[in-house]
Amino acid sequence: MAGPTTQQEPLKTQQKCIAIFALLCCFAVVVALIFSSVDIWGDDEDGITEDNCSRDCSIVLVENIPDDLFLPTDGRPHLPLAAGFHTLLDKAKHSVEVVSPVWALNPWDLDTTPSSAKQGQLLFQRLLGLKSRGVKLKIASSLTNSAELKTLAAHNAEVHFVNMTAFTSGGLHSSFWIVDRRHIYIGSADMDWRSLSKRKELGVVVYNCSCLALDLHRVFSFYWQLHERDYIPSIWSKRVTALYGRHDALELQLNASEATAYVSTSPELFCARDRTRDVDAIYQVIQSAKTFIFISVTDYLPLLSRSFRGTSVTRYWSPIDEMIREAVVLKGVRVRLLISFWKKTHPLTFNFVTSLKSLCMQLPNCSVEVRFFSHKEKEDDIQHGLNHNKYMVTDNAVYIGNHDWVGSDFAINTGVGLVVKMKNSLEGRGVLEHFKAAFERDWRSRYAKSLQGNKDQLRSRNLHRVKMNLQPEEEKERNEPLSL
Ligand SMILES: *[C@@H]1O[C@H](CO)[C@@H](O)[C@H](O)[C@H]1NC(C)=O
Ligand SMILES: *[C@@H]1O[C@H](CO)[C@@H](O)[C@H](O)[C@H]1NC(C)=O
Ligand SMILES: *[C@@H]1O[C@H](CO)[C@@H](O)[C@H](O)[C@H]1NC(C)=O
Ligand SMILES: *[C@@H]1O[C@H](CO)[C@@H](O)[C@H](O)[C@H]1NC(C)=O
Ligand SMILES: *[C@@H]1O[C@H](CO)[C@@H](O)[C@H](O)[C@H]1NC(C)=O
Repeated sequence: MAGPTTQQEPLKTQQKCIAIFALLCCFAVVVALIFSSVDIWGDDEDGITEDNCSRDCSIVLVENIPDDLFLPTDGRPHLPLAAGFHTLLDKAKHSVEVVSPVWALNPWDLDTTPSSAKQGQLLFQRLLGLKSRGVKLKIASSLTNSAELKTLAAHNAEVHFVNMTAFTSGGLHSSFWIVDRRHIYIGSADMDWRSLSKRKELGVVVYNCSCLALDLHRVFSFYWQLHERDYIPSIWSKRVTALYGRHDALELQLNASEATAYVSTSPELFCARDRTRDVDAIYQVIQSAKTFIFISVTDYLPLLSRSFRGTSVTRYWSPIDEMIREAVVLKGVRVRLLISFWKKTHPLTFNFVTSLKSLCMQLPNCSVEVRFFSHKEKEDDIQHGLNHNKYMVTDNAVYIGNHDWVGSDFAINTGVGLVVKMKNSLEGRGVLEHFKAAFERDWRSRYAKSLQGNKDQLRSRNLHRVKMNLQPEEEKERNEPLSL
């Protein structure tokens, strides 16, 4: 009686085993397939997680004001940019991660070293010296042939090359630092000696803020993983997914005031899952402004130039222009736009800002003001005294980015932005007041000139330049009348 069942049971078990084994095999194959397509793993996060990272942060505005610009101080303590970088290096215990569009802390291109390059050289020496303190230096860059990166790499810096030609034909123009996954820098300055002397720069250093640093590090991790790749995979590890964004910003304390913050990036191709695009971040800040929006950028140009089948095609790029128009006309928000006037100012800039200004014609409580910041250019250096700022401050928030407000920049170059929104506008005014004061100081300075009167003169000067450039080829002029 027991015979058949005992014989059948091992058979059944055997069949079950085979079935389970087959299933396991299938599973393993599927897992292997999934994991082989996860190309971007993300870096180790040093044990800090979003649950136990620090949200009690302090924010410091850092600026570089060239010696020969006479800008009245407003009596506020304000940290020079170079001092900000040195403080960050003083604090570094484990790692310094840097992304910069340019590496020219030493004036390699000049025969004689100007005294103004001293700060840059000093910073370079300190970066070289990190090795002796046991601090790791990691750099992501799209530069192929930089003498400085080679020197740093020879001194133990790890340099990862991101081939932007393969992705968007743009550049890795992001400019930020992450120190020990605790402190960060984001701003207009890059690793160019001019940023520490001749150019007017503005940025922020945020201390003791591992939550924000962790999120910015994910952007860094993304670049890091693109090392010697020529495509962006469609599946990434969770370690490059954004932690915070415009719909779920990080809640934190900034200088003891309640605030929210997040990091945005561009171009779209470089936005990992959940990452807010720069343009959307700018939109959110403009949209939430109630009384004023002050914008300071080197260039403002709602145009997008793309090369298409060998010819350059330029199109109107409306997003930011539209947002400003809506805020001004429909919400009565006062807008001030401070743009640099320099050799590279595109002549159509004047047409676009004139168009913005004309919106307010015959409208009560409507105000758009535009001024051009211009410092006498020295013949040998068009960047001398250049207002290189890229930020916006409103009654309740500030946006600090890497890009000028030019369509092409957002479309092909990488950049990051930091959005900080103060929850209680009264309490948070202290922090915002710093940015506002910096803006108003520049706005009221002798270098900021309004459009009236100067316009035609400025315009014809730059139009003339453009024509000169295009003259040799009639054909070219027709195809790319707007090339930058
Ligand atoms: C944070 O949490 C992780 C995992 O829960 C742990 O490994 C790590 O040590 C913690 N870090 C700190 C700084 O508390
Ligand atoms: C970058 O990518 C482009 C296009 O894929 C390729 O032609 C070029 O050789 C790459 N450059 C480097 C330095 O790898
Ligand atoms: C950061 O935190 C440490 C201790 O956690 C404190 O000693 C230091 O003063 C803080 N730094 C800033 C800039 O707030
Ligand atoms: C313009 O502003 C003034 C004072 O701020 C206000 O009293 C008035 O109603 C506003 N007019 C319009 C048309 O919004
Ligand atoms: C935040 O606090 C620090 C010192 O704790 C101060 O140096 C800095 O100026 C403050 N930042 C702002 C924007 O108020």
